[in-house]
Amino acid sequence: MTGQNDKAISVTMKQAMESASWIRQMFEEGNRLRREVGPENVFDFTLGNPSVPPPPEFQRALEETARNSTPADHRYMTNAGREDTRRAIAERLRSCHGEALQGQHVVMSCGAAGGLNVLMKSVLDRDDEVMLLKPFFPEYLFYVANHGGKVVTVATDADFQPDLDAIAAALNERTRIVLINTPNNPSGAVYDCARVAALGKLIEAHAEKLGRPVYLVMDEPYRRIRYCDEPHPSVIRLCRYGIVVTSFSKELGLAGERIGYVVVNPEMPGSDSLLAALSVATRILGFVNAPAFMQRVLGLCGDASVDIGEYRRHRDLLYGALTGQGYRMPEPRGAFFMFPEAPGGDDLAFCRLLREYNVLVVPGRGFGSPGHVRISYAVPTRTIERAIPLFAEAFARARTE
Ligand SMILES: Cc1ncc(COP(=O)(O)O)c(C=O)c1O
Repeated sequence: MTGQNDKAISVTMKQAMESASWIRQMFEEGNRLRREVGPENVFDFTLGNPSVPPPPEFQRALEETARNSTPADHRYMTNAGREDTRRAIAERLRSCHGEALQGQHVVMSCGAAGGLNVLMKSVLDRDDEVMLLKPFFPEYLFYVANHGGKVVTVATDADFQPDLDAIAAALNERTRIVLINTPNNPSGAVYDCARVAALGKLIEAHAEKLGRPVYLVMDEPYRRIRYCDEPHPSVIRLCRYGIVVTSFSKELGLAGERIGYVVVNPEMPGSDSLLAALSVATRILGFVNAPAFMQRVLGLCGDASVDIGEYRRHRDLLYGALTGQGYRMPEPRGAFFMFPEAPGGDDLAFCRLLREYNVLVVPGRGFGSPGHVRISYAVPTRTIERAIPLFAEAFARARTE
């Protein structure tokens, strides 16, 4: 029957798919180009997929877990996750987040994406506001919409650091979550600890004024991927309403395994209710519990993380080359992204121009910051080396055309 395609899905889903269409376009464009000119001649910097393998500790833990499996290990469990894994994670995190942290303050999740959805399900009522700092990870928009919330976006400063005055001006009686992400996707910024500390105080004061929690949520899957001396700020230490959401997708290179966790500040008023809600939300969103096998593996991985040497070399190589050619951006200090200004000013036009050279990057408008492009350097070194002269040609043309 004609017209069935229009009616096959919900209006909200249709809108979600349309709003993400530039991502799909990039993806389809990449596939088309690979077919046309061969995969070795496409320089695809669009994906945020870890390129460094998991560390040897992970392989050992994987084998030991498989060897020691019993049938009971594969059954349903407490929705919040295995007690031994949560205890092991809390022990590892105490030096960062404080001595009060126990396994009961950790809820295992299906990656940071699952953790953020579980959290938003637990705390948002219709039209409650979630504040995002631009540029931000675009999937946040979907997560907030999933749970009836409203997004409020706030600009960062020229170095992509939080602008406390702008945040203070945007706080209001509907604010429920201020969501920050450092090291940042897409800018590569590492937030200054002093700013995050001041933000923690600002949010505590706002929560006191409203007489209810306002949460400072830190999404930190790139915590271990930093190339500077700036320590990683603990929102658990810095804010009574601090919550950490993270995963092993990047720090252990396990993005496909869908494993992460949420940590709630033990000192938070109402933390018991929140932890109980996170556990129930895990079930009612259909996750039920985080993957059982991976929970057991992670309990054995200790403090292991991927070797970030390759990411650092890629950052140095590409940042040095691009800024030498005239591209402008603050030095990326973490994650595996950089976010230069698009020469000529129009991010979409510049992405199209780069595509003429078979170089694919993502327009900044998808991250709330038009006028920039996101480049992921989680790619083979050879891809970067071969693309550098192409970036130079595109830069020269964008400045003259
Ligand atoms: C900033 C940020 N948050 C969350 C996620 C979700 O990651 P995962 O669900 O794999 O932990 C990503 C993935 O790229 C990300 O870049």
